[in-house]
Amino acid sequence: MRSCWWAERANSAVKSLGDVAADNPSTSLNHDEISRFYDRIGSKTLLDDTARYGCESVPPFLAAPYRQIDAIIQQLRRVGKSSFLDLCCGPGAYSVYAAKLGFDVVGIDISAVSIAAATHLAEVQQVSDRCRFVVGDALTSLNQETFDVIFIGSALYYLDLHAALDFVRAHLKADGEFICIETYGDNPIMSVYRRLRARVRGDRDAPTLTRLLGERQIAQLRRAFPTSHVRYYGFLTLVGLVLVPLPIVGQRYEAIARKIDRLLLNRFGFHRWSFNFVFHGNRAVDEPDLDP
Ligand SMILES: C[S@@+](CC[C@H](N)C(=O)[O-])C[C@H]1O[C@@H](n2cnc3c(N)ncnc32)[C@H](O)[C@@H]1O
Repeated sequence: MRSCWWAERANSAVKSLGDVAADNPSTSLNHDEISRFYDRIGSKTLLDDTARYGCESVPPFLAAPYRQIDAIIQQLRRVGKSSFLDLCCGPGAYSVYAAKLGFDVVGIDISAVSIAAATHLAEVQQVSDRCRFVVGDALTSLNQETFDVIFIGSALYYLDLHAALDFVRAHLKADGEFICIETYGDNPIMSVYRRLRARVRGDRDAPTLTRLLGERQIAQLRRAFPTSHVRYYGFLTLVGLVLVPLPIVGQRYEAIARKIDRLLLNRFGFHRWSFNFVFHGNRAVDEPDLDP
């Protein structure tokens, strides 16, 4: 589907405002820069003893896809899956979630401060004995180990997709499951918003602006797994930013947004307008349906 002309024009106008990001993906993956960026973010979580895990780690109005992930992970645990790799685990919200369910977890991240925060969260939540955290590059820090579940949360766009899929295939057990949640890169309105926000607040790094996964990469993910399921979320995300703080509308927002996502994005195929998506490949269990 083509994006609309005004969004494309606005997008390129914002790009030309300055060098918010390098546009060549191959030059924008500087590991030192990425780890410094996330060390700064991780240091905030490190100081926060109230840090949460699973879908509770995100604001409620953004939680729908994370609830889906929680449900998939719970179901996998119920059918006996026991080992969990959290690639690019950041401050460990999903490592700890899986460990609380009884998984043996390995979390890897390139940011030492994020790993310190993950280690701290696991201690606070009393699951340190089930977690092993590693500081290092996601795709080169493990030996031959294989896992029942490999999860990547909002980080696949930092990795070379071919290499990441080779890695997942090599480290996933034969009946293993791959789950990821990623920001959708082909929504023209969100691209404009992200660039504007990066310009104004300076809180985005280059890969977030130039390497997010879109249709082409989702097709690549689908090809890599014999069975897969993709759900799209967040048609109203920008509206939600404004509405959620309002008293009555705010309370109803979530239920309305879920219905709209289910119908528009997932049934009638308008997923080009989504904010993020959950991919679940190689299913040993049926995809739980939280929105029947
Ligand atoms: C947006 S954060 C997501 C963190 C976590 N998965 C979550 O959902 O809260 C992206 C993470 O990817 C990590 N990362 C980026 N490139 C990486 C690499 N090559 N190897 C390991 N971690 C990496 C960053 O340090 C950061 O913690």
